[in-house]
Amino acid sequence: MKIIEWQGENIRMLDQTRLPLEEIYLELTDIPALCEAIKALRIRGAPAIGVAAAYGLALGANAINSDSKEDFLSKLSEVSETLAATRPTAVNLFWALDRMNRVAQQGSSVSEIKEALMNEVKFIEQETDEADRKMGQFGADLIEDGFTILTHCNAGALATAGYGTALGVIKAAHEQGKKVQVFADETRPLLQGARITAWEMMKEGIPVTLITDNMAGHFMKAGKIDCAVVGADRIAANGDVANKIGTYSVAVLAKEHSIPFYVAAPVSTIDYSLKSGDEIPIEERDPIEVTCIRDVRIAPEGVKVASPAFDVTPHKYVSAIITEQGVARDPYTQSLERMRAG
Ligand code: MRU
Repeated sequence: MKIIEWQGENIRMLDQTRLPLEEIYLELTDIPALCEAIKALRIRGAPAIGVAAAYGLALGANAINSDSKEDFLSKLSEVSETLAATRPTAVNLFWALDRMNRVAQQGSSVSEIKEALMNEVKFIEQETDEADRKMGQFGADLIEDGFTILTHCNAGALATAGYGTALGVIKAAHEQGKKVQVFADETRPLLQGARITAWEMMKEGIPVTLITDNMAGHFMKAGKIDCAVVGADRIAANGDVANKIGTYSVAVLAKEHSIPFYVAAPVSTIDYSLKSGDEIPIEERDPIEVTCIRDVRIAPEGVKVASPAFDVTPHKYVSAIITEQGVARDPYTQSLERMRAG
């Protein structure tokens, strides 16, 4: 399934906020529409946000009417800043924009730059999918026949525009013929687990049991979970992992029950400029996402709400980080550095 693609001059994008009830595709013609889609999580998941930003820069470039390279690059930089302001935590957004901006700087004429940017989008998409598949192979080695795997949020094909990271590992194990099943946390407040992971696993034919977030400890204690695999939005150089709010609780529970806790993410999700997870910016979301489910209010009007979209799991809870370059383990500062070197 293509969650994002060119359609003539426009971007065609699956609206993930409507899943699983409706499969609606949007046609986005300009940067404000694309930024709204990223902010509203119509496209979401760190690698997919990166891919969407790359599409955005190419779309924005095509709309700039100027033959002067200097003028063109200055307008393109405004587009880039607008896209960069959509979501603060997933580092893939900034990684993709940096990569696109570097390509733009290298072109000698405006028309050459526009063509190079379109090509770069295709490379980013292709590399994302290839990285996911390699991660799948490395990660599948950690999954044994008969395993029940807990996952949190959605780190599948819908979150990467490729094969998926955490769900890619599970899919690869399934494709190898291992009998695996998934326990999917529903992932409040926006229910990516219930709406998207459950839907994606059912489409893949992988047995899935949906649980609410507060049930994970119960099933771990009951011996029902063999390992947990999640994705990541940003990983610091020391292996601390920012991922969907609730991931930290899963990791602590997993350690208490001696259950391996794995993170699957491409090297583009590692932010080597940050020494530890304390430096990762955490997005705060609109309180309405907590007080209402879709259009139905579930909390009293005027109640005070806190809504961080992500939390940081210290690396001491992480059994391994699965990347497309291999599996990194503690000490992460050294092992993640080796992943960067390739
Ligand atoms: O707010 P979201 O839905 O963009 O959050 C997504 C996650 O937290 C994913 O687990 C993460 O981006 C990894 S996606 C491969």
